[in-house]
Amino acid sequence: MKYRTQKIAYWFFASALVLLSLQLVYGFIMGFARVGYDTLHPWIPFNTARAVHTNLLVVWLLCGFMGAAHFIIPEEAERELEWPWLAHAQLISLLVVGVIAIGCYHFNIWEGRKFLEIPRPLDWLVVVNVLAFLANIGVTLWRGTRHTTTSLVLYMGLLFAALLYLPGMLQVDNQTVDSFYRWWVVHLWVEGVWELIMGGILAYLLIKLTGVDREVIEKWLYIIVGLTFLSGILGTGHHYYFIGTPRYWLWIGGIFSALEPLAFLGMAIFAIAMSKKGGRRHPNRIALTWSLGCAVMAFVGAGFLGMAHTLPSVNRFTHGTLVTAMHGHMAFWGAYAMIVLAMIAYALPLLTGRRLWDTPIANWAFWTSNIGMTAMTGALAVAGITQVNLERRIGLDFLAVQKEIEMHFVGFLLAAALFTLGIALYIVHFCRHGLPTDEALSRAEEDLPADWVPVAK
Ligand code: HEM
Ligand code: HEM
Ligand SMILES: [Fe+2]
Repeated sequence: MKYRTQKIAYWFFASALVLLSLQLVYGFIMGFARVGYDTLHPWIPFNTARAVHTNLLVVWLLCGFMGAAHFIIPEEAERELEWPWLAHAQLISLLVVGVIAIGCYHFNIWEGRKFLEIPRPLDWLVVVNVLAFLANIGVTLWRGTRHTTTSLVLYMGLLFAALLYLPGMLQVDNQTVDSFYRWWVVHLWVEGVWELIMGGILAYLLIKLTGVDREVIEKWLYIIVGLTFLSGILGTGHHYYFIGTPRYWLWIGGIFSALEPLAFLGMAIFAIAMSKKGGRRHPNRIALTWSLGCAVMAFVGAGFLGMAHTLPSVNRFTHGTLVTAMHGHMAFWGAYAMIVLAMIAYALPLLTGRRLWDTPIANWAFWTSNIGMTAMTGALAVAGITQVNLERRIGLDFLAVQKEIEMHFVGFLLAAALFTLGIALYIVHFCRHGLPTDEALSRAEEDLPADWVPVAK
C-alpha cells in the first residue's frame, strides 16, 4: 500500500465476505429443501431463497470488484483517491440498497426475471450509486500521472458493466423481447465485460506477484480482451435458441459461443506462463496460489463446463436443468469469486501491515473450498445428467424426476459443508489481520525480502 486512501478497499472486502456468508446460508436453505427439510417454507420459500442466493452473489462480487478498484487505481494512477468520503458513502448506500432489495424478496415484491429480480424503482438507486463509484475512480485515474493498460482495462470493464445494466431496466410487455434484453445484462456481464475486470485484476496481481515485466503481461491482456469480445458478444446467441427469436441464432450462438472458452484458456495459459517465467519467490505465495487457481478454475467452470452445453443440439436437452446450475456454480466461483479472494489475499497484508502470508489456515482455506466446490459441481453434474435423461429423453414428469434425484443433494450438501469450512477458514484468516493502519503504509516496501528482484523481460 502506497496511498492512504487505498485503505478504503478493506471495507469493501469485509462487506463482500459478510455478504458471501449470507449467500451460503440461503444456499443451505435451498439444499435442505431439496432433500425434504423445507421447514422454513412459510417464511422463505425456495424461489425466495434462490433469488436472495444469486443476488447476494452478484452484490458481494461487485463489492469485491469495487474494493479491488479502490486498491489498484490509486496505485496505478500514482495518486490518492479523489473523494474518499464519497467512497464511504457509496459503499454504505450500496449495502442499504442491497438489504432493501433482499427484504423485498421476502415479501414477494420483485420482478420475475432470474438474476434481475430487483424491483425497478430500486434500479435507479443502483444507477446513482454506480455513477458515484465510476466518477470517483474515473477522476482519480484521469488526474493521475500514469495511465496503464491494466488500469484502463479494469476501468473499461467497470464502465461497460454499468452501461449494460441499463437494457435490463427497459419495461416491455413481450416475454421474448424482455428475455432478449435480459441476456444483454446477464450474459454480456459474465461472458463479456466482467472478463475485462477479471483480466485487469489478474494482470495487476501477476505484475506484482511474479515480477514479470509489465509490457509482457499487458500484451497478453490485449489478446484476452480481443478474444473475449470476438466470441462473447455474438455468443449471447446461445441464450436465444429457444426463446422465440429467429432461427439464425442457432448458428450464430452455436459458433461464437463455442469460441468463448478460448478467452478463458488464454487466461489460464497466461497466468501459468507468467508464474513460471517470474518464479514464485514473492513472499505472499497464497495470493499467487489464488490467482493461478482462479485462472485454472475459470477455464474449467466457464470454458469447459460452458462448452459442455452450449451447442444447440445439446442445449435442447439440458436447457434450464441442473446442468445449468452445475456450470453456474463453478463458473462464478472460478472466475469471479476466486479473483476477488485472490485480490483480498494480496491486499490484506499490505493494508494491515501483518505478514500473515502463506499460513496453514490460508492454505487450508484454499484447498478445502476448492475441493468442496469441485465436489458440489460433481454432485450437480450427476443430478443434472440424470434429470436430462429421465425428464427430457424418457419424458417422466418434472416432479417425479425431482424426487428421483433427491439423493444426489445429500452428496451436494456434504460437499457444500466442506466448501463452507474453507470459506470459514478464509474469513478467520481475514480477521487475524486486524484493521488497516497508516503504519502499514510505510512498511509496505520493506516487507519484500532483499532477494526479491523482479525479472527483467
Ligand atoms: C465466468 C463466466 C461464466 C459464468 C459466471 C457463467 C454463468 C452462467 C449462469 C449463472 C447461467 C444461468 C443463467 C440463467 O439461466 O439465467 C449460465 C448459462 C449458460 N452458460 Fe454460462 N457462464 C459463464 C461462461 C460461459 C461460457 C464461456 C459458456 C460457453 C462456452 C457458457 C455457456 C452457457 C450456456 C449455454 C448457458 C445456458 C444454459 C441453459 O440453457 O439453461 N457460459 N451461465
Ligand atoms: C454452501 C454452499 C452453497 C450451496 C448449498 C448452494 C446451493 C444452491 C442451490 C440449491 C441452488 C439452486 C439450484 C436449483 O435451481 O435447484 C443454487 C443456485 C445457484 N448458486 Fe449456489 N450454493 C452454494 C454456494 C454457491 C457459490 C459459492 C456460488 C458462486 C460462487 C453459487 C452460485 C449459484 C448460482 C449462480 C446459482 C443459480 C444457478 C442457475 O442459474 O441455474 N452458489 N445454489
Ligand atoms: Fe452466456
